[in-house]
Amino acid sequence: MMSSQMDTLTTTADLVPFHGCAFVPTMGALHEGHLSLIRQGTQMGGPVVVSIFVNPTQFAPHEDFDQYPRPLDRDLDMAAKAGAAAVFAPAAECVYPPDVPVAAPALPPVATTPGLEDGHRPHFFTGVCAVVARLFDLVRPASAIFGEKDWQQLQVIRAMVEADPSRFPLQIDSGPTLREADGLAMSSRNAYLDAAQRDQALALSRALELAQGLDPTAAEGAMMACLLDAGLSVDYAVIRDAVSLGAPRADRPTRALIAASLGSIRLIDNGPV
Ligand code: PAF
Repeated sequence: MMSSQMDTLTTTADLVPFHGCAFVPTMGALHEGHLSLIRQGTQMGGPVVVSIFVNPTQFAPHEDFDQYPRPLDRDLDMAAKAGAAAVFAPAAECVYPPDVPVAAPALPPVATTPGLEDGHRPHFFTGVCAVVARLFDLVRPASAIFGEKDWQQLQVIRAMVEADPSRFPLQIDSGPTLREADGLAMSSRNAYLDAAQRDQALALSRALELAQGLDPTAAEGAMMACLLDAGLSVDYAVIRDAVSLGAPRADRPTRALIAASLGSIRLIDNGPV
């Protein structure tokens, strides 16, 4: 199917002409952050394929799988305007065929040991690695681009690919987090915030600013105080090694990472420190 000169693909066979593409996996509800990854992909020379698939296996039963926004026509239009050659929007049976066993990748330590997303959403990386591995098998891209907003996810996918180069012969690239003018990191879940919550949510980017120039202990204290003062419920506000997400070391890049909730709306953010 064509949408403003862009192909909409739904089957494995549809993907064959696009093998070797630059690939941007998404769950749809596209925003400027996704579009910047698509534009980044267009600089790589080949076609850009965007997948839109709300992956059930990365949601726990109490999470927002049913509520997750699915504005497909709007997404197709936005992806086409950003320069995507095709959108792959498969049915669940294509990704998880009931009659064909699909090899689930082993989870790397960065998916199971830091106590960050892995600690608070124990199902999450099993689902993300399963779907990303399957999408890589189907799309067969030369490169895939992920947003840095999901920092632990990015490290997990890099480690998964590095651990099995024969199954995953591709390059992993990343694009920076895009922010609203007031600092709020762009996210499809921002649509859930009412005006008062959106104001409270600014505490995440403010906390990351406060962490700058402080030693790790002081930075964690300052971030926690900022988030609690704004009335958020905090899962973590920590300084970690930027790659292993273990304890920070003075001789290696470090990252500040936050997850905090406003009622049932859970937000994450991160930045270099
Ligand atoms: O970051 C996301 O949108 C999802 O976790 C991903 C990578 C598309 C897998 O469903």
